[in-house]
Amino acid sequence: MKRILTFLRDTRHLLVLLLLIAAGGAGFMHLRGGMIPESFGRIGPYRAAALDEIAARPSVIMADSTCLKCHADVGEERADTLHTAVGCIHCHGLGRQHVAEARRAVDSPDVEISPAKGWDGNFRTDIDLYITKDRATCLACHQKVVGMPKEFKKIKGVPREFKWINVDEHLEDEEAEEPESRETCFECHEGHNTEP
Ligand code: HEC
Ligand code: HEC
Ligand code: HEC
Ligand code: HEC
Repeated sequence: MKRILTFLRDTRHLLVLLLLIAAGGAGFMHLRGGMIPESFGRIGPYRAAALDEIAARPSVIMADSTCLKCHADVGEERADTLHTAVGCIHCHGLGRQHVAEARRAVDSPDVEISPAKGWDGNFRTDIDLYITKDRATCLACHQKVVGMPKEFKKIKGVPREFKWINVDEHLEDEEAEEPESRETCFECHEGHNTEP
C-alpha cells in the first residue's frame, strides 16, 4: 500500500502532464473543426464551394464580339486570318472601362473616351486600354522554346500547330533593320493582319 502511494505521488506530475496533453489535443481538434470550412477537402485540398463562388463572378474577359460591334474595321482587317484566334485583350488590355465609356458616349456625345495608353510590358497590367507594338505581345506565342512540344500552345479552333520562330535567326534571315528594337516585328508585320 505504501509503495503504491509513493508510486502515485511520484508519478502524479506525469499524469497531470498526460491530462494536459489530452485536453490540449481535444481542444485543438475542436478548434480545427470549427475553423475548417465545410466543403474543404471534398474534392481536393481546397474549398469545393469556392468553385461555384468563382464561377458566379462576372467575367473579366471581354469577348472579341463586344469590341467588334464598334470596331468592325478591325474585324475586316483580321477576317480570314488565323489570328482571329488571338483575342483583342491580348494586345489591348481588358478594356472594361473603355467599353463602359464608349457605350455611354453612344448616348451622350459629350462623354469623352479616354485615349489608349502605352503598354508597361506587363500582361497583368492595371492599364485598361493600351496600344503597343512591343514584340513581347507576339513572342508570347511565337517564340521557339527549347523542349516545349508544339501542341503545348495549341489554341482552340486553330487546326495547325504554331509557327514558331527562332527570334535572332528570323530577324537576321529577314534582314530586320533594327533587330534590337522592341518594335522590330512591326517593320514587316502588322498587328491585325500579320501576314508579312
Ligand atoms: C460602344 C463602342 C465601343 C466598344 C464596345 C469598344 N470600343 Fe474601342 N473605341 C470606341 C470609340 C468610339 C473609340 C474612339 C475612336 C477614335 O477616336 O478613333 C475607340 C477607340 C479604341 C482604341 C484606340 C484608342 C486610341 O487612343 O487610339 C482601341 C485600341 C480600342 N478602342 C480597342 C477596343 C477594344 C479592345 C474593345 C473591346 C474590349 C473595344 N475597343 C470596345 C468604341 C468602342
Ligand atoms: C496581336 C496583337 C493585336 C491584336 C490581337 C489586336 N490588335 Fe488592335 N492593334 C495592334 C497594334 C500593333 C496596333 C497599332 C497599329 C498601328 O499603330 O499601326 C493596333 C491598333 C488598334 C486600334 C487603333 C486604330 C487602328 O486600327 O490602328 C484599334 C481600334 C484596335 N487595334 C482594335 C482592336 C480590336 C477591336 C481587336 C480585336 C478584334 C484588336 N485590336 C486585336 C495589335 C493587335
Ligand atoms: C495568342 C497567340 C498569338 C499571338 C499573341 C500572336 N500570334 Fe501570330 N499566330 C498565332 C496562330 C495560332 C497562328 C496561326 C497558326 C500557325 O502558326 O500556323 C499565327 C500565325 C502567324 C503568322 C503566319 C502568317 C499567317 O497569318 O498565317 C505570322 C506572320 C504571325 N502569326 C505573326 C504574329 C505577330 C507579328 C504577332 C504580334 C503582333 C503575333 N503573331 C501574335 C498565334 C498568335
Ligand atoms: C524584316 C522583316 C521581318 C521582321 C522584322 C520580322 N519578320 Fe516575321 N516574317 C517576315 C517574312 C518575310 C516572313 C515570311 C517568311 C516565309 O514565309 O518564309 C515572316 C514570317 C513570320 C512568321 C511565320 C513563320 C513561318 O514558319 O511561316 C512568324 C510567326 C513571324 N514572322 C513572326 C515575327 C515576329 C514575332 C517578329 C518580331 C520578333 C518578326 N516576325 C519580325 C519578315 C519579318
